[in-house]
Amino acid sequence: MRRHAASACHYHYPIASFAGSLCAVTACALLPDTLGAATMNALPYFCEGEVVKGFGRGSKELGIPTANFPEDVVDSLPSDIATGIYYGWGCVGNGEVHKMVMSIGWNPFYKNTKKSAETHIIHTFEEDFYGETLSIVIAGYIRPERTFNSLDALISAIRSDIEEAKNQLDLPEFVKLKDQFFNNNKNNIMNGH
Ligand SMILES: Cc1cc2nc3c(=O)[nH]c(=O)nc-3n(C[C@H](O)[C@H](O)[C@H](O)COP(=O)(O)O)c2cc1C
Repeated sequence: MRRHAASACHYHYPIASFAGSLCAVTACALLPDTLGAATMNALPYFCEGEVVKGFGRGSKELGIPTANFPEDVVDSLPSDIATGIYYGWGCVGNGEVHKMVMSIGWNPFYKNTKKSAETHIIHTFEEDFYGETLSIVIAGYIRPERTFNSLDALISAIRSDIEEAKNQLDLPEFVKLKDQFFNNNKNNIMNGH
């Protein structure tokens, strides 16, 4: 194992010790049968990279800005992390840690041809933060990506994902996860893949 570099990596210590309780929180209620155990085993998952420009639809069309990771970070996500919508914690540079939701996949509503990993940090930022480092920990799975009959339907699905994320992340297991990742052990993160 080597020291963490600025790319996607799996956090090994000390999360494994309570990964079982995270699974218990999310597995039964939220995971579709198709997702399987592999994704659960891959969570929590730490990932960081520079924020790059996406299509800009998040803020312009949806009113829900997202921070995109570059291609190499998306490509280095392990194959056992299914595409879909996730929640967790995120932090820009050395700033505050906030709740986040993210989408991993091809945005079927927009029929993207390139896989993306887009994070919406549940916080109002005064300015764009392109070029800054975004660090996230993916804690749990919400649902698969899907297409919608209208832009409004996509927006209301994302709003409901945000509410789901806020509620889940208030659970003590997830608060503990935030503290362990961002306050104590970020420097101990190892690249496990
Ligand atoms: C929580 C969340 C859920 C999303 N769910 C879907 C979805 O179900 N289907 C879809 O096509 N795109 C989904 N998206 C992706 C948005 O369409 C995408 O973030 C938006 O188009 C902005 O992309 P851009 O930055 O490349 O412009 C989701 C995004 C977020 C943050």
